[in-house]
Amino acid sequence: MALSVRELHPGFAAEVLDLALAQPLPDATVAELQDAMDRHGVLVFRGQHLDDHSQIAFARRFGPPERYVLSYRPGIKLRLGQPEMVDVSNLDATTGQPQDRNARHRMVNLGNRLWHTDSSFKQVRGALSMLYAHAVPPEGGETEFGDCRTAYDRLPASVKQQIEGLEAEHSLMHSRATLGFTDFSPEERAALPPAVHKLVSVNPRTGRKSVYVASHASHVLGMPIAEGRLLIADLIEAATRPDLVYRHAWRVGDLVVWDNRRTLHRGMPFDESYPRDLRRVTTSDVAFPWVTSPT
Ligand SMILES: [Fe+2]
Repeated sequence: MALSVRELHPGFAAEVLDLALAQPLPDATVAELQDAMDRHGVLVFRGQHLDDHSQIAFARRFGPPERYVLSYRPGIKLRLGQPEMVDVSNLDATTGQPQDRNARHRMVNLGNRLWHTDSSFKQVRGALSMLYAHAVPPEGGETEFGDCRTAYDRLPASVKQQIEGLEAEHSLMHSRATLGFTDFSPEERAALPPAVHKLVSVNPRTGRKSVYVASHASHVLGMPIAEGRLLIADLIEAATRPDLVYRHAWRVGDLVVWDNRRTLHRGMPFDESYPRDLRRVTTSDVAFPWVTSPT
């Protein structure tokens, strides 16, 4: 079955039409979706009917889902019961209502307003993120995506030459510290040591290159801290120029899938007295297809 795809932004982001993801998909459809991911970087599926289990099952077709790490704090209560599910909501785990302004979960998630790519701070970085909307505020709270592939293509040859082979260190603690939040337990810090990744990422399936940076990137190896931070800032700016950004306005039932190795994203502000319940599953960066199912 050929996918029905509608481009949402020139050269970047597309909507997949007429595909219900709650049901198991044939291998051929999964392969077509992976091809579409390689082409568009961001895929939108409207009008879905997913629960946590079917969202995780869909993710599992593309790679092993990561497990949520920030659960080492004694007494922490998680709202969602699945270890593969990241709670991107503004809801309190006990009351289910919008959380207090100073809630720790809110402080950690405020970092999502910075341009980033999921799990660049892990040794095995994030591959595809799949974010599903259960509740959305009446306005605001969009997610913006930047195209790191076209950003790379547009770099001057001298900059391409400069960054080829360079590596940056990424840490969740760094991106949160830039917002003044440093309240991580020793166990959390031990569970999330910094990770090093190249500034240029290559899609092994297409050969296309991307810049790979994020708010988590603290410095460039072998370069003075300030110089590296300016380079990181320049590359983030290159990938988030207005003409490279797709802004997704959420509706309940939307699933948005993006490739963290070729895009940046950030959440936009909204009136937090309204519930915004988005739940994310992210696959680890292993070669696709990672499971061969019997045909
Ligand atoms: Fe994110």
